[in-house]
Amino acid sequence: MNASSSALTLRVIEVRALNPLIKLLRLSADDGVLPGYEAGARVRVQVELAGGLKDWRDYSLINCQPAPGATLAPANYLLAVRKAQDGRGGSLYMHEQVHEGQLLAIEPPQNDFMLHTGAGKTVLLAGGIGVTPMISMAAQRRAEGLPVCLHYAGRSRASMAFLPELQALLGDDLRVHADDEQGGPLAIDAVLNACAPTDHLYVCGPQAMLESVLGQCRERGWAQERVHFELFAAPQATAGDQSFTVELAQSGKSWQVAADQSLMDCLIEHGCDPIFDCKRGECGVCTTTVLEGEIDHRDYYLSAAEKAKGDVMQICVSRAKGARLVLDL
Ligand code: FES
Repeated sequence: MNASSSALTLRVIEVRALNPLIKLLRLSADDGVLPGYEAGARVRVQVELAGGLKDWRDYSLINCQPAPGATLAPANYLLAVRKAQDGRGGSLYMHEQVHEGQLLAIEPPQNDFMLHTGAGKTVLLAGGIGVTPMISMAAQRRAEGLPVCLHYAGRSRASMAFLPELQALLGDDLRVHADDEQGGPLAIDAVLNACAPTDHLYVCGPQAMLESVLGQCRERGWAQERVHFELFAAPQATAGDQSFTVELAQSGKSWQVAADQSLMDCLIEHGCDPIFDCKRGECGVCTTTVLEGEIDHRDYYLSAAEKAKGDVMQICVSRAKGARLVLDL
């Protein structure tokens, strides 16, 4: 789905710094009508980058109220944005340009991070600003009267957001891990050891945390259906990334993908209209057949067997291992 087809125009009614790096934004509709959502949903916000370039960024919708149906007819949308100084400019725009009274274009809520139905405790594991979808999930589970706990990890308590709200919501079911208090990062294995075989794990945090958790769950042989995840930011370029050539077999066109550019962004820059959704290697929407070349898989969607076979790739995040890829486009 291309992101700009059905945007709402919403007004920013509150901007508040929660700490030096995280800002809260509250949005409302001038006619008072906002689409409902379920815990885990996110909206896509149009941002303006350097040079006036328009782009979209995803932010989870936050609900702290453990009331049944609290998000089905919301009075406003609550977002939290972490400033990324070395990011691509979206969070800087949200922090430095967006102000109360401003109108923003927003794609309606979409949910690829739904809570499971049926048996099993909900175990939430959040790193940094990855806590935002977890707040709504914890509130929904509380409203349902179903078991839930949240492990919330951050560098320090001062860098974390929504601690008072989470404490009120979860009480002893909130476990806060501050690296500076504990002398190091959260022990993922201890969290997994404490899970029962029917528990469902939900992870949202930075790439390194996500990869560690997913790797350990795989090693333990956990069923994929029990492990739910969302990366909170677009994947960053990796040190040592190289430029490579992409050739489109059907049109015969070819371009150079820059070292700091995704293959998808290269195609868009040259007037192609690739289908995408998450742009984080999670949803599978951008799966593309590869006819020649070795793929550097960086997604969380394809299975290990599919990656080993090497005939499809997620063009939003994956790259070439060599100098050239030929796509069936
Ligand atoms: S757009 Fe979701 S995996 Fe590429």
